Amino acid sequence: MERHVSRYLEGVAVDIVEKIKALPLRSRTPMEWGPSALADPIALLIDHAFLEMKAAQNAMELMTRWPKEWTPGWVETMTSVARDETAHLAQVTRLLIRRGGQLERGHKSFYAAALRGLVRSGKTGETLDRLCVSALIEARSCERFYVLASTTADEELGAFYRALFSSELGHYKVFLKLAYKMAPAEEVTRRWEQMLDHEARILAEQEPGCRIHSGVA
Ligand SMILES: [Fe+2]
Ligand SMILES: [Fe+2]
Repeated sequence: MERHVSRYLEGVAVDIVEKIKALPLRSRTPMEWGPSALADPIALLIDHAFLEMKAAQNAMELMTRWPKEWTPGWVETMTSVARDETAHLAQVTRLLIRRGGQLERGHKSFYAAALRGLVRSGKTGETLDRLCVSALIEARSCERFYVLASTTADEELGAFYRALFSSELGHYKVFLKLAYKMAPAEEVTRRWEQMLDHEARILAEQEPGCRIHSGVA
């Protein structure tokens, strides 16, 4: 991987590389994944649009689920994430339509569905798990946008993925921050560590293809 990184990274700021290295993900996407996911940019943009839409819906759904009597910063975080995600959805849809594609009605993400399957039922555990899953999807998306930005030869797509990078990084951090506000630190850390392991396993089980969370061929 290192050999490819040095070749592809021209134009990607050094601090971004450091931020990617600092992500706690248990597995790393090889640079080879980028060109294979970009083999059909329209399919990738459609998948991406649904990812943004679901991220916005998830934030709005979580908005009224503050776990205690009142959790400061909860509503502000969720509304801010939802606003960002709808803006991303608008951007990705614009790119898609300009390139001759269009949104489809239905969409399945086996990766996100498998992650949601880890969520325990019951008030505190459920909300904590949902925050962890949200943070994981953001962190992995961030890593994937970095690989896409680093490997695409398409300037417009490269700039788009680079622009999304910081936003998704911020979302990953705020979801995790809220998790630490709602439960004892040891409990959150223990669950987060388990979830990180599950995420790497679930991602490794995905089929390759033109999707943001596809497997590696
Ligand atoms: Fe987004
Ligand atoms: Fe996000």
